[in-house]
Amino acid sequence: MKIIMLGAPGAGKGTQAERIAEKYQIPHISTGDIFRANLKAGTELGKKAKEYMDQGLLVPDSLTVDLVMDRIAKEDCKNGYILDGFPRTIPQAESLKEALSARGEALDYAIDVNVPDENIITRMSGRRACPNCGSTYHIVYAAPSKENVCDKCETALILRDDDKPETVQKRLSVYHEQTQPLIEYYASAGILRTVDGTRDMNQVFEDITDILGA
Ligand code: AP5
Repeated sequence: MKIIMLGAPGAGKGTQAERIAEKYQIPHISTGDIFRANLKAGTELGKKAKEYMDQGLLVPDSLTVDLVMDRIAKEDCKNGYILDGFPRTIPQAESLKEALSARGEALDYAIDVNVPDENIITRMSGRRACPNCGSTYHIVYAAPSKENVCDKCETALILRDDDKPETVQKRLSVYHEQTQPLIEYYASAGILRTVDGTRDMNQVFEDITDILGA
């Protein structure tokens, strides 16, 4: 099963993608996580990506597309994968389509987690991330068992640099301008499924599994 997640920043794509990956035993590929891991490792890619991420802008396609194409060509992706945060522009979607059709493959589902802008800022200010393993929490909706400490690796949690309110506003406007057109793009391709992302995260997951099947 080949799935992509669509939705505004903070809509809950990562939260749901992690659960889908676990249930259906497919790799969860998050471009945001890949850039953050590169930043942590001090690579050139990480340094370049940070310049854009900190401003709430998209990392250029020239740094993003090949990275994803190489990743989905790996052995562990042969039974499918879930792409979280890619594609984010029409050219990225076209590159993905071309790479897949060259192998006689196609995406199965584009799941849009729909959350209005007014809910996003509150969500983002409460999000806490683990700088070590990438796990995500929310101080109200998904709190860790020990305050501000990651349940999985016991590292102190942080507020992501790009979750500051002014950067979130910029990310939202970039989303509406560059990423939202993908909703129409995948609707036309007949694979768009929309879920109400304002519901409780377990209910959102149930809605998604209803779409994907047992
Ligand atoms: P990325 O990391 O992909 O950021 P994003 O798309 O903005 O998404 P987020 O990770 O912020 O949010 P999410 O939807 O995954 O929400 P989450 O599950 O955490 O990308 C970061 C940056 O990298 C981009 O801005 C760009 O610069 C660059 N980049 C990445 N991919 C790129 C690409 N393809 N091209 C170019 N540049 C790229 O949930 C948010 C919070 O809400 C959490 O605290 C969570 O616990 C909580 N929550 C989740 N669901 C619910 C619910 N149902 N109810 C209540 N709370 C909930």
